[in-house]
Amino acid sequence: MPEPGTPSHQAQQEREAARERAETLRGEIRYHDHRYYVLEDPQIGDGEYDALIHELRGLEERHPELVTPDSPTQRVAGEPQEQFGVVEHAAPMLSLGNAFDDEELRAWHQRVLRELGASAVAMVCEPKIDGLAVSLLYEGGLFARGATRGDGLRGEDVTANLRTLREIPPVARLGAVSGRHAPADADASSFEVRGEVYLTREEFERLNSERASSGQQLYMNPRNTTAGSLRQLDPAVTASRRLRFFAYQAGRADGGPAATSQSEALARLAAAGFPTNPHVARFEGIDDVAAFCRTWQERRGELPYEIDGIVVKVDDVVLQRQLGSVGREPRWAVAYKFPAEQAVTRLLDIEVSVGRTGVLTPYAVLEPVVVGGATVSKATLHNEAHVDELDIRIGDDVIVQRAGDVIPQVVGPVLARRRGRTGLRRFVMPTRCPACDHTAARDEGDAGLYCVNRDCPAQFERLVEHYASRGGMDIEGLGERLSRQLVSGGLIGSLSDIYALGERREDLLALERMGERRLDGLLERIEASKALPLRRLLVALGIRHVGEETATALAVHFGEMEALQGASSVELEEIEGIGPTVSRSVVDYLQDPANRALLARLRDGGVRMTDDVAARGGPLEGETIVVTGALASWSRNEVETLVKELGGRVGSAVTKNTTLLVAGAGGGSKRARALELGTPIRDEAGFRELLGERGWREPAPSG
Ligand code: IVH
Repeated sequence: MPEPGTPSHQAQQEREAARERAETLRGEIRYHDHRYYVLEDPQIGDGEYDALIHELRGLEERHPELVTPDSPTQRVAGEPQEQFGVVEHAAPMLSLGNAFDDEELRAWHQRVLRELGASAVAMVCEPKIDGLAVSLLYEGGLFARGATRGDGLRGEDVTANLRTLREIPPVARLGAVSGRHAPADADASSFEVRGEVYLTREEFERLNSERASSGQQLYMNPRNTTAGSLRQLDPAVTASRRLRFFAYQAGRADGGPAATSQSEALARLAAAGFPTNPHVARFEGIDDVAAFCRTWQERRGELPYEIDGIVVKVDDVVLQRQLGSVGREPRWAVAYKFPAEQAVTRLLDIEVSVGRTGVLTPYAVLEPVVVGGATVSKATLHNEAHVDELDIRIGDDVIVQRAGDVIPQVVGPVLARRRGRTGLRRFVMPTRCPACDHTAARDEGDAGLYCVNRDCPAQFERLVEHYASRGGMDIEGLGERLSRQLVSGGLIGSLSDIYALGERREDLLALERMGERRLDGLLERIEASKALPLRRLLVALGIRHVGEETATALAVHFGEMEALQGASSVELEEIEGIGPTVSRSVVDYLQDPANRALLARLRDGGVRMTDDVAARGGPLEGETIVVTGALASWSRNEVETLVKELGGRVGSAVTKNTTLLVAGAGGGSKRARALELGTPIRDEAGFRELLGERGWREPAPSG
């Protein structure tokens, strides 16, 4: 025991005082967080709040032993990360089926009643927040891990970023789990909460005006901004974004439910300190549900955040389980989607853009207007015929619409406002290319005009952009803007020049917004693109009528570029799904001397010209497998690639040559056909079993 009055006694007293003060501060901060975010009734201003945080941080800096993992100061912490880890969800994070109108909503309800053999069912209606779904894991009462939804099975570990959200409690207990369906030993301190991270309209606008004043490109909408903010490698950036959270689902740590009903789960979440949406309602009849949906469709603008519909859920967890899911969509819930949002704005002009194949497309230049949360200043008008059909004149007030993520559209003019207005101009399609001034010609068959100049710089810019796009060679960062800079700056004159960009470092660094780091990343992705299979190159080249499906068919059939180059159009047409128009287009492209030279340069540059052909001697050699319905753990593409990698063939229809039908959820007609032919059928689990028997081991998730 230190003697009273000695220096160590003093230090101990001081520590004790600091500990007490820190506890008081933490309590106050939590109280004000709750008032601010949950009750939306703050008692103190931002300045006062910041002073509390500041004082606590000071104390913790002087007495590091006082820092607790649940201290509010820990919300704004964490070092920048290299990349996010991968998190496997305890139970898949499902998506929702949609109902686009009253009739579809009632059809969903009818199906539910039929499945349950009931005449009524209680439902909970919740606003569908347009943000990003996350999963929060609490262990021993502490917020331990947070992840994005990802593909529903695996998401990204964004714990450090989620810790910066003031509305996510660092410590929580879910209340004792009771009721006949809950296991007696359920641990209330280890559980999972799911919900939506979102931005208010106000915060979205604040961020955008900041970006505008610093000359940065504006964000599209609150949802994308939320996603971008949550996926910041530096938590300090996330912290500066004032992200918000609503909890809408609670489960046990092992993925089971933590309540006997949705309404009970929401009540427990709220009691545990999680923000839940205040506009949730429970109804027994579908008429009331429909009325609720209609009401919020009209009142959505009153909310400080975006909603794109109402989620309707069967309340009782036992009934939910009885209804189950089809693929990734629960039958016990549905999203009633609001129709597109509309706004009126002035049509300032109609301009024409030049596409990758030279097609000229008119688009509307609009006085910027916020529609469905995004600022719209341009909208495609598709073609001349569509402009005529819309009967819009330059100078008109027009109705603009945006539905969810869909690109903005012009619906038509507000005719009542045209009266008395002078100087309105009809649009006429130019007869020359707006980019290179070459003549524009009519395309055979369809109504469009296109620029005939094969050296048109605008076309080439689009081609570069397309080449680098996701479905093509996936060179992230080489988008519209950089393509334009590279083409107009003379840094690339042919697609093969992309692979020589490494030798132009100095020129590249001189470009606006190009720094060392960004350039290194770009060059890395360019290098990586060389290894992509032939099917991706075939998409990337931008051959007319060759999309992903055709490219895959060609690549799988021929296996390598050389064989494809030697094929005649007759040979091509023998491939399922390839008709005369496509085969003509492919042969024309491949025989063109300029294109042959381009392909030779790409090959010399190290671009791969082969595809992943079936591995000989693989565990599925000799099998012709057809996949139908939705699988839970693979997309269609993934399972088909897997079959091929293991040496099997993928069939599109069940025939007498089919050796196995893998049947997921849904998919009735193929199953019927297989039963008729006596073809073996396995469900997803059975297919996994078969793969296991043949020595296949699931690769561990990467990243
Ligand atoms: S429930 C099975 N409730 O909508 C239940 N989702 O398409 C699945 N969302 O990814 C989710 N508000 O991001 C649910 N109150 C709410 C929601 C909600 C927004 C989002 C969520 C999910 C998507 C489903």
